Amino acid sequence: METKIWRLSQASEGTRLEELTEAAAVLRAGGIVAFPTETVYGLGAHAADTAAVERVFAAKGRPLDNPLIVHVASIEAAGRVAETISETERALMEAFWPGPLSLVLRGKVGAVSGRVTCGLPTVAVRMPDHPAALSLLEAAGCPVAAPSANRSGRPSPTSAAHVLEDLDGRIDGIVDDGATGVGLESTVAEVLEGGAVRILRPGGVTREQLEEAGFRVEEAKVSESVEAAETPRSPGMKYAHYAPKGELTLVAGDRERAAAYIHRQLAAHGGGVLTYEERAGLFPEADVVVSLGSLDRLETAAQGLYAALRRFDELGVERIYAEACSEEGIGEAVMNRLRKASGGRSVHV
Ligand code: TXA
Ligand code: MG
Repeated sequence: METKIWRLSQASEGTRLEELTEAAAVLRAGGIVAFPTETVYGLGAHAADTAAVERVFAAKGRPLDNPLIVHVASIEAAGRVAETISETERALMEAFWPGPLSLVLRGKVGAVSGRVTCGLPTVAVRMPDHPAALSLLEAAGCPVAAPSANRSGRPSPTSAAHVLEDLDGRIDGIVDDGATGVGLESTVAEVLEGGAVRILRPGGVTREQLEEAGFRVEEAKVSESVEAAETPRSPGMKYAHYAPKGELTLVAGDRERAAAYIHRQLAAHGGGVLTYEERAGLFPEADVVVSLGSLDRLETAAQGLYAALRRFDELGVERIYAEACSEEGIGEAVMNRLRKASGGRSVHV
């Protein structure tokens, strides 16, 4: 199959609209189309079209028991796929939509294909904060199921080039509107019966932002509780995700001892280092050093993380030593993805 590219970046307003209308028509007709959101690129399909949704799973090589997030262009459209929206759920939508917050709601029977929810009674819904995504969703006029547009197990794509790397020839098209903003996926959350918010996957909306907006957030950090649980609440969390091809070891603890540990490993095995601006000069003996920007601005680390992991792959780096960062703010999501990328290989020094 030839993958069509609709380029928006340098297009005039009129051309953008034409390109988006064409992409939306492909979606409506059962095609699968990658598109940018504020977090990462998604691979969309008409959410009520079972055959289209099945093609998404096949193109990605995604396990069939991992449900998809439904993307909508408005709160009203969310109401068409959810059975009910509670007061707290609506308040979350009003506070954070459009934006990187996916809400797990009680699903409306028959509104989306059972393949989207993998038979769960719930459906995850979000309204992305990206002009091209919103125009595409409006033009398509249907709910769009969209996982990240990567081959399963690979780092999520933050540019159209990443999507092509993984899916060229496997999907109908890509809406290319440049690099995404946040760089990591949305926060997946659910509202518990008493009104507290439970974070199932940390992401673009931070725990602190939820609290500052007046929501009560369940205590436990996802990294320590849900991920370790036998039956993960968010099915996607159990898979080895976001992984580069090389073997990544997460190094946490005292900064000086971390550097000493990495020096010893590099001397013994060679390899690359994933670190931060303040520490990038510490490892001259490494095969490659990639900096995620300042430890004081972890938004930059979030933006660059997946491209950095892909960069190590391109260079054929077999061992990667990744330094930990603070778990405050977006750091919680960065550390969650680093843990995933490490597949459990972590040392605390
Ligand atoms: O930022 C994002 O969320 C991106 C962009 C494209 O919107 N999408 C994304 O989709 O990250 P994906 O498929 O890579 O991750 C979806 C996550 C998985 O962890 C999945 O298990 C969880 O959402 N999920 C989906 N439906 C769910 C449900 N009904 N209950 C619990 N978790 C659910
Ligand atoms: Mg994904």
